[in-house]
Amino acid sequence: MLAENYSLLLTIHSLWRWVVLLAAVFSLAWAVTGRVRGQPFAPWGDRARSLYVGAVDIQLLLGLLLYAASPIIRSAWMNFSLAMKQHEPRFFSVEHSLTMLVAVALAHIGAARVRAATDDRKKFARLLLWSALSLLAILVGIPWWRPLLRGMLSS
Ligand code: HEM
Repeated sequence: MLAENYSLLLTIHSLWRWVVLLAAVFSLAWAVTGRVRGQPFAPWGDRARSLYVGAVDIQLLLGLLLYAASPIIRSAWMNFSLAMKQHEPRFFSVEHSLTMLVAVALAHIGAARVRAATDDRKKFARLLLWSALSLLAILVGIPWWRPLLRGMLSS
């Protein structure tokens, strides 16, 4: 069932990265402008935080389904030591998945730290710090050599 929907999952996971990146940029932009202008954190700070965590959680779910469906992952696990010597199998079975799990964890820790902050200046500072750390992990973990708009352009 998952294997049959592999290319659909891959396309959605590939395109959803842009939603994740836009949500991260929105969080960062809101954290910077809100703090500089001394604006109240709520309600847009809370919306930015939830939007980013929600986008990342959906991508995590898609990634887990893709992990189960991908022929690259299946053959990597069939001969793990050989896969570790090849770039794409190693990248997708270990490096990409672990880096993105770290990014998801950073987004969740950040959201909890923002909620726990008692004043708005601290909330902005924490939103900025944790969104930036999570975004950094995502930028490092994205396979930029793959299509940027899968399924939408002929190349
Ligand atoms: C949360 C942030 C994540 C982002 C932004 C992201 C982004 C991407 C992108 C851009 C691709 C390439 C798609 C293409 O070839 O067009 C990809 C592939 C893949 N991702 Fe993720 N990913 C994330 C998380 C995860 C997680 C947590 C897992 C698994 C636990 C995962 C598993 C995979 C797999 C298995 C592939 C490639 C499968 C294949 O080519 O057969 N991803 N990801």
